[in-house]
Amino acid sequence: MENHSLLSLTVALLGFLSPCITRLTPRVSFPMGNVNCCDTTGSPGRQLSRFSSHDVSNTTTLLLSEDGNMLYVGARDAVLALDVSHKDAVILRHKTDCPNFIRVLQFLNSTHIYACGTFAFSPRCTYINSKTLTMSLKPDEGRGRCPYDPYQRNSAIIVDGELYTGTVADYRGNRPVISRHLSEGRRVDLKLDDTLGWLEDPTFISSSFIPDEGKIYFFFSEVGREYDFIDKFIVSRVSQICMSDVGGQRTLQRRWTTFAKAQLLCQADNELPYNVIQDIDSLPPTGGAPADDTLFYGIFTSQWSVNSGKSAVCSFRLTDIKSVFSGNYKVLNRDTLQWSTRVQEKVANPGECGLHNASDNALRFVKENFLADESVRPIGRSLTMVSAEHSYSHLTVQRVQAANNRDYTVLFLLTESGYLHKTVLLQSGAHIIEEIQIFDQPQPIKSLKLSIPKGMIYVGTSEGVVRVPAANCSFYWTCPQCVLARDPFCGWDPVSRACVEASNTHTNLGQDIDRGNAEEACSSVSLTHRATFGPNKLPAGELVSVSLNEVVRLQCPAASRLSQQLWERPNTRLSSDLYLHLEDGSLSFVATPTTLGHYLCLSTENGYQQTMVIYHVKQKSSPIAQTPTSRTGHQTHPLPTTQAVARPGPWPGTGLHTSVGTWPKRTEAKEETEPTLSSRDTQATTRQLGRNLTLWTAESRQKEEEFRDGEPLLLARSPCYLKELVVVSVLLVLCLSLLITILLYVIRKRCHSRTAPQAGTPTRNSDRQTPVEQEAFRGNQFLSKCNGQVLHSGQASGLVCNGALTGSNGHLPNTPI
Ligand SMILES: *[C@@H]1O[C@H](CO)[C@@H](O)[C@H](O)[C@H]1NC(C)=O
Ligand SMILES: *[C@@H]1O[C@H](CO)[C@@H](O)[C@H](O)[C@H]1NC(C)=O
Ligand SMILES: *[C@@H]1O[C@H](CO)[C@@H](O)[C@H](O)[C@H]1NC(C)=O
Ligand SMILES: *[C@@H]1O[C@H](CO)[C@@H](O)[C@H](O)[C@H]1NC(C)=O
Ligand SMILES: *[C@@H]1O[C@H](CO)[C@@H](O)[C@H](O)[C@H]1NC(C)=O
Repeated sequence: MENHSLLSLTVALLGFLSPCITRLTPRVSFPMGNVNCCDTTGSPGRQLSRFSSHDVSNTTTLLLSEDGNMLYVGARDAVLALDVSHKDAVILRHKTDCPNFIRVLQFLNSTHIYACGTFAFSPRCTYINSKTLTMSLKPDEGRGRCPYDPYQRNSAIIVDGELYTGTVADYRGNRPVISRHLSEGRRVDLKLDDTLGWLEDPTFISSSFIPDEGKIYFFFSEVGREYDFIDKFIVSRVSQICMSDVGGQRTLQRRWTTFAKAQLLCQADNELPYNVIQDIDSLPPTGGAPADDTLFYGIFTSQWSVNSGKSAVCSFRLTDIKSVFSGNYKVLNRDTLQWSTRVQEKVANPGECGLHNASDNALRFVKENFLADESVRPIGRSLTMVSAEHSYSHLTVQRVQAANNRDYTVLFLLTESGYLHKTVLLQSGAHIIEEIQIFDQPQPIKSLKLSIPKGMIYVGTSEGVVRVPAANCSFYWTCPQCVLARDPFCGWDPVSRACVEASNTHTNLGQDIDRGNAEEACSSVSLTHRATFGPNKLPAGELVSVSLNEVVRLQCPAASRLSQQLWERPNTRLSSDLYLHLEDGSLSFVATPTTLGHYLCLSTENGYQQTMVIYHVKQKSSPIAQTPTSRTGHQTHPLPTTQAVARPGPWPGTGLHTSVGTWPKRTEAKEETEPTLSSRDTQATTRQLGRNLTLWTAESRQKEEEFRDGEPLLLARSPCYLKELVVVSVLLVLCLSLLITILLYVIRKRCHSRTAPQAGTPTRNSDRQTPVEQEAFRGNQFLSKCNGQVLHSGQASGLVCNGALTGSNGHLPNTPI
């Protein structure tokens, strides 16, 4: 009893501690553009191709041809063949109507696709010609192959013309089954023996065929009956069956003889498990490596509300799964339906292939022993990635060879809120290279497919299909930006002076995925540039004409969401009495004779500093003597509220305009046709000009809390008062558990008669806990484990100008030459 109360406390406290998870901020963000406009939408830097039409919606399944030229789409009432071989357009080739929510769509052979749909709660299957999309006339019965309910998850895979499925086989959805269909000749259709409760209310996620093993692995979550001390504890599972299985001769006739299941643990030491699997994808080994090196990357969430909205990625190795299946198995007591770990004589090896003509005795043994005793632990016994603020629902994984010939693992993670996070796994942890908004309304139906040959990601939603290129290297137009992105797909080509796809080039590319050291990777570029500006040669910058006593506001774009911006003046301190650092990175002050002069906005990211913009604030009333380089001066105006807002612009003729980090070239026409912008317009334009890269403002994402008092994003990372918290928590736990023990003891003394189990009281004694169970909840050592990077560097110095511009290292604008 005490065990349970302790557990709930543990749950509560662990939830309380979790704010200390490292915040993972996508480096750049591409919000969605105008959806209603055309086929291609998205940000200018990340264009998406959308395929949607009024009679095609609710994309449930995506199937890609091997060459990546055709995308078959299972939707509501239709199967479509989309030609995706063209870079610029998605073309509908064929469409066939079927009154179904398609839930199974698999290649059967070289000419046909096998499809199953829910057919208004009476599932049917059919053969579809993959060239013409014509359907066979007589549909198959779909029971056991396809769910009845369009929203129920299932898994299906066709190998050698046989269909292996995990789904429910009845209308009410309470007869789950893993089965084989379309078997011919001596091979018979097989299913699970359903008298035993081999599956406990499962949610099927996916299945994976490993050719070298001759096995199919199923991934799902279900109620963990072995954890009977807590109500409906959900566990994630991997299960396996052998393709060679043909069922037993007397025992287990037409039933699997090779079914075995094990728990998949996604849990770091001393933390609550992320127990509910959401999606999983396999990463085959690199050429030549054994199949045992196959990896599985899965998204897991937690069943406890304290962890709601968070998700974790865990990775598993096939050899670890295999060794768990070849180990010991738990024993099920048929009378009490209790699982226990008991040392027993192994009559057979459950899960072993080729058991179909084993003795009845051996088959009876495997029939009762199918839950592996050990759990499959993640690689390194730790989580690959945890996101405190994003609930990931789908993922796909790819190995990408970088310019240094090393392989990097790239995950494409889809959030519930509609963003695709492209993430590279580094030694130091996960780095989210970019986020791309795919949809803005919650989508009840989602699917994700990666086309490695074409370098495309397809997202199926309730609204249609979206195609996203895996990378757009040309978005990074300076060497430092290209390197700082740490995108294994992209490298800086010094010959063409462009950020290019690493796989297309054989020259020495500037790239540093592991450290993102722009200084080093771009050394040839920046050195030549540094020589261009001698000491005291301050570029003219952008002219800002102001009247005295006017409030001036200078804007500065962010190079990325990981950069910190700071303002400097040559030879002057920016005292906080005179200057206000606003939360969007801009600087505000009152124009006085002392505040006139030059201002620089510097952006620092990963130790690399670049000048984003330079302003020259001048008094307006003086006779106009504008330099040719200050054509953009007219953009600043005294406003009704006497506020001048200045935004940066290009400096034609100074050779400087490319140096303004993330500033795109603006068309000359725009320059000249907009001489009188109001303050609001100016600000809006500024944001848009940043290629929607800087759209992390309050309105666009609810992130205001990260930008308190003008502190840059990095500084606002979660501060951890862990030690104090831990001490207090431990004391609290001790006190409370003592109290509860006494209370429970008193209650127990008083009530001798059995009472109905109350909410919160466990139904079983805790002394039957297996080591696995204990491990799953080993949460009572509240180790302080905060790896949140709190970056303080530059917090104070950011407001101080350390002398002349040339005196400070690396302040010079960088250019792509
Ligand atoms: C890639 O980025 C460049 C520069 O922002 C943009 O012009 C181009 O349209 C983008 N391409 C795609 C496919 O998003
Ligand atoms: C593929 O399967 C279909 C349906 O069973 C069959 O009609 C067709 O002949 C098969 N094609 C090949 C090439 O085997
Ligand atoms: C096992 O069954 C296969 C057919 O499924 C048969 O060819 C083989 O001889 C049998 N092996 C033994 C040891 O009985
Ligand atoms: C199907 O798509 C339509 C149009 O996007 C949407 O309104 C509807 O909610 C979707 N239905 C389901 C069952 O997802
Ligand atoms: C940036 O996104 C906003 C919507 O969030 C859109 O109105 C604007 O046109 C985009 N800017 C550019 C330059 O595409």
